[in-house]
Amino acid sequence: MTENLDDLNKETREAWELNAEVWDNRMGDEGNDFFNILCWPALASLLDASTTLSTGLKSDSHILDIACGNGLTTRKLAELGAKITAFDFSSKLIEKAKARLANYQSQITFEIIDATNESQLLSLGENKFDSAISNMALFDMADIETLFRVLPKLLKPKGTFVFSITHPAFNNASAMHVAEEMDDGEIKDTYSIKVSRYMTPTHQRGLALRNQPKPQVYFDRPLQYYLNLGFKNGFILDGFEERAFPPDAPQMFPLGWGGKFSELPPVLIARMRLI
Ligand SMILES: C[S@@+](CC[C@H](N)C(=O)[O-])C[C@H]1O[C@@H](n2cnc3c(N)ncnc32)[C@H](O)[C@@H]1O
Repeated sequence: MTENLDDLNKETREAWELNAEVWDNRMGDEGNDFFNILCWPALASLLDASTTLSTGLKSDSHILDIACGNGLTTRKLAELGAKITAFDFSSKLIEKAKARLANYQSQITFEIIDATNESQLLSLGENKFDSAISNMALFDMADIETLFRVLPKLLKPKGTFVFSITHPAFNNASAMHVAEEMDDGEIKDTYSIKVSRYMTPTHQRGLALRNQPKPQVYFDRPLQYYLNLGFKNGFILDGFEERAFPPDAPQMFPLGWGGKFSELPPVLIARMRLI
């Protein structure tokens, strides 16, 4: 990467502040298909296995929601009865999350914190959280090394970190969605993803929502980058899911992610646990 990380982080924050309104309107209380079909079911099951009794979340589970946006995962966790500390570096998104989750005030603490800043992260409190969760945000962060280094201090022993990310191999910023038609005695359509780079961490501007006012910066990293960062900081990988839309899932745009790409996973979810 040639651009300075501090500048990229600043640009990222400005983009999320500018896009907060559009993001909040689009995601609402319930989220989109990515959240409801791909991410949440796997996040919930991976999180459950590590923090629950067979009957549900332990009433004293304290979960850290990293880069919570307008509070989609925060709401789901609150509904399960957890105590949550949720943070984001966009003050506008935290305002939106607070407004949307006013009914859960007693369970949730919101903070404005930059996940690339070690002292801000440490201010959350050490040895405090049973689990941390981050839904679709690590690839939005200019730096994740700081977060992986500090998380073992914030988590209790054997604590878990469950995160979803765009699949680095099939859904990075170089991915092109391709439709082809062939005549094989019958006419067949094939939908595929063409990826032109994977190995080298890089960044590229793009759109999470087609009508957002300002493109955001995506930080592409290969899967080994995420896993090795976890291993280096005392985590093991003990849960993993690649998630694709089922064939009958709706297709919001002709070549957007949806049922036509049911053999290719746009999302992966990993659970890492402190040893
Ligand atoms: C794609 S959104 C996901 C939000 C939320 N987790 C959800 O599931 O709806 C990515 C979020 O990452 C946040 N973010 C990016 N870099 C961050 C950083 N360095 N510290 C804290 N939040 C950050 C953005 O403000 C944005 O809310």
